[in-house]
Amino acid sequence: MPRHIAIIMDGNGRWAAQRALPREAGHRRGVANIQRVVRALAERGVPVVTLYAFSTENWRRPTAEVEALMSILAEEIEPQTRELHEAGVRLVHLGDPTPLDPVLQDAIAAAEDITKNNDRLVLNVAFNYGGRDEILHAVRKIIADGVTPSELDEGVFGRYLYTNGCPDPDLIIRTGGEQRLSNFLLWQAAYSEYYHTSVLWPDLDEGELDRALEAYRQRNRRFGALDAQHHRDEA
Ligand code: IPE
Ligand code: IPE
Ligand code: MG
Repeated sequence: MPRHIAIIMDGNGRWAAQRALPREAGHRRGVANIQRVVRALAERGVPVVTLYAFSTENWRRPTAEVEALMSILAEEIEPQTRELHEAGVRLVHLGDPTPLDPVLQDAIAAAEDITKNNDRLVLNVAFNYGGRDEILHAVRKIIADGVTPSELDEGVFGRYLYTNGCPDPDLIIRTGGEQRLSNFLLWQAAYSEYYHTSVLWPDLDEGELDRALEAYRQRNRRFGALDAQHHRDEA
């Protein structure tokens, strides 16, 4: 079983278009699907889940769509947090909060605080997250902290990322059919297994999650080593 599954939640707009609904309706259905997926993964014993909700590039969308996404988050963060809290989920925000409305920033901080002692599952929500932004943010802080070149290694660098303390994702799932990372977890995805499905995010259910987990079980992860050698090192 993967220790960390990261999901690129794509296809909300197409889900709505298929039903002749406004894109916003797709985003609302997308938010509603978070509970189903997180509960299913918790039941299957996955300890860390990361969801990509809004990228640093998504600001390029029309203002009305960006505003709709921001107001959906503002409306949904409290009720969603309450449900996740009951399910024993700890919420962690990944990304740069500073361009967000201060009210939203406070709501995010409150959601993290309310759930901070939960230990059934860690749910990272990547919102205003970009892999390149995360790396630059880390480098700036490393320089500001006066870390010397010889002190810097992969472990130190990883602690400066938003994902500090999380294992790298074992499996990255992308819904909606595209086969790209779209600036998601660039550093952490170095050896992730990748699964993409044409299922749109609001439709992602237990059946498709189990297909992704089965595909993952069939993969042979070598991390650059040879099969036998890797298994010997693990033993
Ligand atoms: C994913 O759905 C949600 C966000 C990126 C915020 P999209 O809005 O990208 O849906 P499609 O790709 O247009 O169907
Ligand atoms: C990726 O989806 C970002 C999120 C799911 C938050 P996009 O729909 O923004 O990706 P592109 O633009 O097709 O690469
Ligand atoms: Mg999309």
